[in-house]
Amino acid sequence: MFQPDLLSGKRILVTGGGTGLGKSMGKRFVELGAELLICGRRENVLAETAAELGKISNRAVRTHSIDIRDPDGVERMMDWAFADGAIDILVNNAAGNFIAKTETLSHRAVDSVLGIVLHGTTYCTLAAGRRWIEAKHKGVILSILATYAWTGSPFVVPSAMAKAGVLALMQSLAVEWGGKGIRTVSIAPGPFPTKGAWDRLVPPAMADRWEKAGPMKRVGEHIELANLAAYLVSDMADYINGDCITIDGGRWLQGASMFHHLSALTEEQWAAMRPKKS
Ligand code: HXC
Repeated sequence: MFQPDLLSGKRILVTGGGTGLGKSMGKRFVELGAELLICGRRENVLAETAAELGKISNRAVRTHSIDIRDPDGVERMMDWAFADGAIDILVNNAAGNFIAKTETLSHRAVDSVLGIVLHGTTYCTLAAGRRWIEAKHKGVILSILATYAWTGSPFVVPSAMAKAGVLALMQSLAVEWGGKGIRTVSIAPGPFPTKGAWDRLVPPAMADRWEKAGPMKRVGEHIELANLAAYLVSDMADYINGDCITIDGGRWLQGASMFHHLSALTEEQWAAMRPKKS
């Protein structure tokens, strides 16, 4: 689908790049020629991923352990990432989330999700953007959202609040920084199985229902999201700025549409409802 050198010469930092969707995007980026930097909280996980992805890259994958809730730590990470020359692309992928009845959430529970998703993403975005603006270097910021960024969602309320905030951040900066050569894009994925998300978000008794929902009755494959990410961060998408692309098989539209339950009607039921010719 892509030229093998689509991302050649691009230096990309992926937050939460050691596991899940961050790892899948990182893999696709190096396959397409990018130099990859990944960060996350667990040094051993980062090292394992770097070793694995380093085998398909012509350069070592570099790692930095960090909790992006720490703004000083984010500044130190960006000093590290920009030390040998500017990065070209920041992927805001690191997230935290769990299902809970909202009235049971403690302050610390709310803060943990907002801290990672809203504050951490903002710290990373500003730290990279400031450096790009100062150096007059072009940059791309890709943020991974969720389709409930614009609908809200029960039972994951701090995540919905945070993703909505990140969408606003991306849209705002598209305008404020677009003229400075910095482009922002977002992806709103539906369900793409990862251990981190499934352990926290899918009650085992509901896994089948969750995985078979939506018009296409399936979940996403990582390569589908990774290819979209590769396109959006590439120069081929240079005129896409501030937009958020949904990749969910039409699932959120089904949830929002008034008559989606009619998919369950049989041909006989449809036939029985047709007006009779007199
Ligand atoms: C209620 C919970 C909870 C739960 C944690 N807490 N899990 N409360 N229900 N299931 C509370 C804790 O009791 C504590 O509050 C507070 O939250 C902080 O918890 P810690 O474990 O101390 O925090 P920390 O170690 O920083 O972990 C952060 C985390 C965790 C967000 C809570 O889940 C995490 O590390 N997640 C990272 C990976 C992840 O979430 N991946 C999924 C992303 S999916 P008290 O008051 O007790 O001290 C995604 C989009 C999905 O974002 C889109 C789907 C379509």
